[in-house]
Amino acid sequence: MTDACPTLFSPLVLGPVTLKNRIVMAPLTRQMAEPDGTPTDEMAAYYARRARGGLGMIITEGTYEQDGWQSKAYLSQPGIATDAHVAGWKKVVDAVHAHDCKIIVQLMHGGRVCDPRCLNGEPPVSASATHSGGWVLYTDTDYEKNIRAIDGPWPKVTFGPARALRVDDIHAIADGFAAGAARAVAAGADGVEVHGANGYLLWQFINPKTNLRTDDFGGSPENNIRFAKLVGDKIRAAIGPGKLIVLRLSQDGVDDFTGAWPGVAYAEAIGAALKGSAYDALHWASFDYAANRQTDSAEPMPAALRRTSGLPMIANGGIFDGATAETALTSGAADAVAIGRAIFAHPDWAYIVRSGMPYDWMPFDRKYVIRPPLDYGLAYPLALTDPKWPAP
Ligand SMILES: Cc1cc2nc3c(=O)[nH]c(=O)nc-3n(C[C@H](O)[C@H](O)[C@H](O)COP(=O)(O)O)c2cc1C
Repeated sequence: MTDACPTLFSPLVLGPVTLKNRIVMAPLTRQMAEPDGTPTDEMAAYYARRARGGLGMIITEGTYEQDGWQSKAYLSQPGIATDAHVAGWKKVVDAVHAHDCKIIVQLMHGGRVCDPRCLNGEPPVSASATHSGGWVLYTDTDYEKNIRAIDGPWPKVTFGPARALRVDDIHAIADGFAAGAARAVAAGADGVEVHGANGYLLWQFINPKTNLRTDDFGGSPENNIRFAKLVGDKIRAAIGPGKLIVLRLSQDGVDDFTGAWPGVAYAEAIGAALKGSAYDALHWASFDYAANRQTDSAEPMPAALRRTSGLPMIANGGIFDGATAETALTSGAADAVAIGRAIFAHPDWAYIVRSGMPYDWMPFDRKYVIRPPLDYGLAYPLALTDPKWPAP
């Protein structure tokens, strides 16, 4: 085995925790929980298999933190709102820790893009009274269409018009995030990630296109990020200094893949507002971490946020091989990388990258990432001959 990617495989101190390397599994929704949100044994096996592949940390799929308050976004989404949820997550956390891998639970509130079937007839909530254009809830491969027995075009999910949250609602939802974080810690997690990305509630506040407020929670970058900062403060008060708290940010939303912040200057203002906040680290979500889609500067968004916040950055998006990961770290864009689809599809990604083994990643991109029973069987490197390989 060669020692490819020395920076990637060096340890990283992230707030109160130390990762054995800088490879993080990005949060990936699987809809594998019980209908009541309890994490399943299948989830424990899925996460443990990826921990065994040598990751520094896993960020779980988006998890709703509160029953009520219209936070659940997906059918079969896991929750961290009840004692049964805590017991389910404890099995996941213990299985991951057995492989010397950290795990944090991603806490999310769906806001205006919750699947209407999760809302019990209530309207969705958002920063302002806006109306999402809707989106296709599932992936669009023929393979998935086939296993779901869907004939014709993919069904597009539409959402009702959103109710604008009042300030007292904002505080109640932030309290819900804190209670969810306390339960995640009770389950043994190393901390939590607050989902401020990808079109969900906190993103709807951070993105000026969906936040039309004129009070303290809208109208400027500092006001747009205030809700996410409040959530961080309440979580820190609930779980103390010994646990990791990460904030995930993005330009895109699930119902808007043309999303763009108003310039790198906007990222700089968001970064400056997060300096000295309760967050230990930031996490940039995208499909290409280096492409900022802006005209005012070519600097990658994660680099601008890292520079202005002074916080460690986990960069995500389009990192499929070791060389790209190493460059993300040595270029000043990031302190760790989060890998989504490649680890989804390929539990031993870290092993292969470290070995320097040539590997064609693309056949595993999406094709085998549909259901765990399939990916356990198929997304496995045929050339992996050393099952006793010690995790880096
Ligand atoms: C099927 C699927 C599910 C996802 N679920 C989540 C999620 O629950 N939370 C989240 O923040 N991002 C989620 N994402 C976004 C990924 O974390 C990541 O940003 C994206 O896949 C790009 O990274 P990659 O190029 O390494 O795959 C999801 C992406 C996919 C493809």
